[in-house]
Amino acid sequence: MCGIVGYLGDQQAYPILIKGLHRLEYRGYDSAGVSMISQSGELNVYKAKGKVVALEESVKNDDISGTIGIAHTRWATHGEPNATNAHPHYSQSKNLSLVHNGIIENYKTLRTELESRGYTFCSETDTEVLVQLVECMMDTHKSDLFTAVQFALKSVVGAYAIAILEKSNPDQLICARKGSPLIIGVGKNENGNAEYYLGSDATPIVEYTNQVIYLNDEEIAIMDRKGRLDIVNLQNVQQTPHLHTLQMNLDQLEKGGFPHFMLKEIWEQPNALRTCIRGRLNKEQKDVILSGIIDNKEKFKNCRRIIICACGTSWHSALIGKYFIEEACQIPVEVEYASEFRYRNPVIFEDDVVIAVSQSGETADTLAAIQLAKSKGAFLYGICNVIGSSIARATDSGTYLHVGAEIGVASTKAFTGQVITLSLLGLVIAKVRNTLSDDMYNMLVDELFMIPDKMQWTLENNKNIDEFAQKFTYCKNFIYLGRGYNYPVALEGALKLKEISYIHAEGYPAAEMKHGPIALIDEEMPVVVIAPRQGMYDKVVSNIQEIKSRNGKIISVVTEGDTIVKEMSDYSFVIPDTRDCFVPMLAVIPLQLLSYYVATAKGRNVDQPRNLAKSVTVE
Ligand code: G6P
Repeated sequence: MCGIVGYLGDQQAYPILIKGLHRLEYRGYDSAGVSMISQSGELNVYKAKGKVVALEESVKNDDISGTIGIAHTRWATHGEPNATNAHPHYSQSKNLSLVHNGIIENYKTLRTELESRGYTFCSETDTEVLVQLVECMMDTHKSDLFTAVQFALKSVVGAYAIAILEKSNPDQLICARKGSPLIIGVGKNENGNAEYYLGSDATPIVEYTNQVIYLNDEEIAIMDRKGRLDIVNLQNVQQTPHLHTLQMNLDQLEKGGFPHFMLKEIWEQPNALRTCIRGRLNKEQKDVILSGIIDNKEKFKNCRRIIICACGTSWHSALIGKYFIEEACQIPVEVEYASEFRYRNPVIFEDDVVIAVSQSGETADTLAAIQLAKSKGAFLYGICNVIGSSIARATDSGTYLHVGAEIGVASTKAFTGQVITLSLLGLVIAKVRNTLSDDMYNMLVDELFMIPDKMQWTLENNKNIDEFAQKFTYCKNFIYLGRGYNYPVALEGALKLKEISYIHAEGYPAAEMKHGPIALIDEEMPVVVIAPRQGMYDKVVSNIQEIKSRNGKIISVVTEGDTIVKEMSDYSFVIPDTRDCFVPMLAVIPLQLLSYYVATAKGRNVDQPRNLAKSVTVE
């Protein structure tokens, strides 16, 4: 949540900062701001309520010059979304400006202390407390900014990624992190002079350099125009900066002719999953290779159980993973909401494997859940999309999704990427534990290999959802039903609709419907039923009959060639046949398209739905 951008170099900072903010807008979009040290030496701060375009509009007549700057797009935690609470915040003397992503938990105590020393505050934010604290430390210790930041951060409880400018020192940029992500891009201009970029993720940086440093917790970095880049930790121990090469291309950050990132990412799924399985799923040799597991074979062979921690859409893919791993590997798998797990003193054994599933690799609750598991001695495995993310780095081993950058706030290709990765994982563990017959193993490998082509077929054959979706814009509620592997798909379908159309939707196990939700059924209520031929088909047919007899409208997802459910339905989406364990990757596609088209028909901003952020780095 919240996006930070920074720049120090020879170029004008403002265009780089604004472009970076647009890239990070998925992290929060209720207000935005920039701060630059102008050519005449002024430390300017400009802020606006709303999206980055509102900021651009508001600075049209201002001095936006300067070759050093910081910027921020906000998802409000402390203080309502308005220009005053927007970042950057000035210090009392206006010698400093600071942007922050995270939460300072002890900000009230710090603020009271600072007020007693004569500091006054303009905003309600915890961030203004931080910048005032840094200034107070500079005054108290008569120190430079770098040392003052160190002092200040030692008294802070909470999470932060910060970047800070000092009016009297226009040649240096300082940043720090704990718990919230921050990446430093290291570049050189054509004259060989150093340029530095900051970003909450790599998207604002990749255009200028592919050399990055992932700042670690409790590290502070100082950069200057002469090429100085020093990183020390809060204990003042010098750290060696490790340069990484980004594996991201710019096309992933553009809409590529699609009206929204979400639609682009839905259509990217076949290719994204091909990339995900490339080099891992070998059809000829009937082999699945995940180096993260092979290198830690014994852990998976001997573990007592697997616990998967995740949030949101990732929790849904984790549930599908549980069903598959339990079935294929005969090992108990628990799926936990990371936010619950971290606070309930769960039983964790040293011979547990704890898997974190996270697109961003930055979700604060998931990160805290695995840190808890680590403290109890469990082996940690990460399934993340974002390379170099905090969860990827905090785990003992793991597998990247490699589905490319996902920009739309509602997760689509990351979901199917997670499901196929968990399927690969299940197959590798089954091999290690010898729980599947060769025939079954080979058949599953063959079938999994065909999933991307079947996804393509599903997309091509469900193009008319566009028109159909128009009929549902009036709806206030939807129910989604599925059984077995398709129960999590029902949850995911309902979540997608809620997130981007703001229509209330519930996902339920189909058989549970009669224990409550059936009371909601009337002729106004669309019920989406995932009813593929594989897996409890007859039982789902009975569930559909129960809805029909109460005049509910049935929208079904059926297997190609199905007639029974199709005839009972008001509308059907067709998917190709596959094994029941792999149906979710196909069945979810029409549901993603349905939510997309209902939301766009309602005029919603599907890529940036209200109140949501893609990367939830606060609890
Ligand atoms: C937010 C996003 C969801 C995502 C969830 C977990 O709520 O809006 O799309 O599923 O966080 O994110 P993660 O990055 O951990 O998968």
